[in-house]
Amino acid sequence: CGIVGYVGKRDSKDILIEGLKKLEYRGYDSAGVAVFTQNGLEVRKTKGRLAVLESALDEKPLHGSIGIGHTRWATHGKPSDVNSHPHTDNALKFSVVHNGIIENYMTLKDELIAGGANFVSETDTEVIAHLIASVYEGDIVKAVQKAVSRMRGAFALGVLTEYEPEKLVAVRLASPLIIGVGEGENFIGSDIPAILEHTRNVYILNDGEMALLTKDGVELMTIEGNFISRELFHVDWDITTAEKAGFDHFMLKEIHEQPKAYRDTMGARLNDEGTAVQLPELKLTAEQIKGISRIHIVACGTAYHAGLVGKNMIEQLARIPVETDVASEYRYRSPIITKDTLVIVVSQSGETADTLAALREAKRNGAHVLAITNVVGSSVAREADSVIVTWAGPEIAVASTKAYTSQLIAFSLFSLFLAQTLGTQTTEAITETITAMKQLPEQVESILARGDEIKAYAEEIAKHKDLFFIGRGVDYAVALEGSLKLKEISYIHSEAYPAGELKHGTLALIEEGVPVIALAVQEDLFEKTVSNVKEVKARGAHVLGLGQEGHEELPKAVDQVFSIPRTVSLLTPALSVVPLQLLAYYASLALGHDVDKPRNLAKSVTVE
Ligand code: G6P
Repeated sequence: CGIVGYVGKRDSKDILIEGLKKLEYRGYDSAGVAVFTQNGLEVRKTKGRLAVLESALDEKPLHGSIGIGHTRWATHGKPSDVNSHPHTDNALKFSVVHNGIIENYMTLKDELIAGGANFVSETDTEVIAHLIASVYEGDIVKAVQKAVSRMRGAFALGVLTEYEPEKLVAVRLASPLIIGVGEGENFIGSDIPAILEHTRNVYILNDGEMALLTKDGVELMTIEGNFISRELFHVDWDITTAEKAGFDHFMLKEIHEQPKAYRDTMGARLNDEGTAVQLPELKLTAEQIKGISRIHIVACGTAYHAGLVGKNMIEQLARIPVETDVASEYRYRSPIITKDTLVIVVSQSGETADTLAALREAKRNGAHVLAITNVVGSSVAREADSVIVTWAGPEIAVASTKAYTSQLIAFSLFSLFLAQTLGTQTTEAITETITAMKQLPEQVESILARGDEIKAYAEEIAKHKDLFFIGRGVDYAVALEGSLKLKEISYIHSEAYPAGELKHGTLALIEEGVPVIALAVQEDLFEKTVSNVKEVKARGAHVLGLGQEGHEELPKAVDQVFSIPRTVSLLTPALSVVPLQLLAYYASLALGHDVDKPRNLAKSVTVE
């Protein structure tokens, strides 16, 4: 979910709506605002996209210079008008927007009902409004503190009360929240783009902190009520980086931003001679690196798929054993984490609840945690011991593209750094890989220039209901990501299989005309993969082969070929995934789906 809030002199409605538009990627199944008008605290909220709320506000406007807004991704209670935020108490004196989950809301709800509260929604958020109302004794800050001390879970809140109409209270406990500081006006937002149009000066709240905002100032304090002082953070991003820049969709724009993201992520991390990687952000000494006995890579979704490639890179270049886990599984399988375990968490947003929980578990067990994340100042970035930031820039489309490929770059940098430190690769081998890395941006550009070829193939794919991706080694890891991309935005069912495993079951699904995308990019596994291609062809599959340029055998084995420029084996995912991203994009487009906002999915999942 996304939160915004405004207190100042201007009419708040448009500021709230514009802010919510920038947060729509956090959730978009319903939206609402609460504004202090001449009539008191008034709420408008609707199920559906923000546009629905906008027209409701056009019909019945709300005018006032203090307000809060919310865009929702349903957790407790289905998307509906009444379950939308803001929520209020029965006397309509308090109004709350909330991101996260209140774990003990059932107990609190029973208590509040016993005390006379009448609940109208199915949400956990409504509990907060009633709870604050029940403990209010003339001071909204104290009431919020008291209420929060009763609440368990992860949340960020924005709170208004009609009794103190000049105040906006914000709370952060394990869900992101920032404060924007303006002149004669102040803002809250779930993240920076929400307020960037108005101010570049922000306070980033930490877990367990809150703020009291009036138009003239911001007071920061802990939820226990101890005042704190903090330096303002000056944001030097350009607002247009968060806009579409002329592309039809954020996803296509972000696919095209990959060459830049690669260059930025490599940036100063390669020495001038191109012979070594430098990672000053790694808070591990050479001695500590030598003491690492195992590595766990933990992440969700696309970031997990980057981790699968990362495992191959680390094991092959640095010869340290690596396990990969989906974050929601990690904690519950009693992983063996020792002091010489390095845990790498990968997260575009840096706010994924499962990933954050895994990070905390790893820290509790004494492991050094390295985060690979795209968001500076995110929870994951702040809690990890070391952070490698991917410089992909804000990613808006729900389906991750440039963040994934930047994670691959980060993994290659890190693996090379390990190899350098451990002496597992020669300087020549390292230099060769670095030279190849530097060519990747141009090579991606050359693939992007052939988007039309993929588009034509995607239009064919769009006519099918099922599709298979096969590959071996890192090709299999890329196949998983290609399949996920397609499922996420085109809703076409697909499966990714290790090419050699297909015959142990899934081959039964191959029949005349079924499309199979065979990744035969790994040269050393080429012949093996081609044998598997023959197995599916013999059952009538139509095969698109993805291979490296100049391969003479591939065209003979498949029905259609898309080749990618040549590079060293471990770096091929940074190229081979690009046509698969385009495939998913154009298939979604051909089917008329909402590319950037696929049904049922959210960009940032801050619930477990
Ligand atoms: C959500 C997104 C996915 C993403 C995953 C992990 O499910 O829809 O695209 O891969 O979360 O997100 P993170 O921000 O931790 O990389």
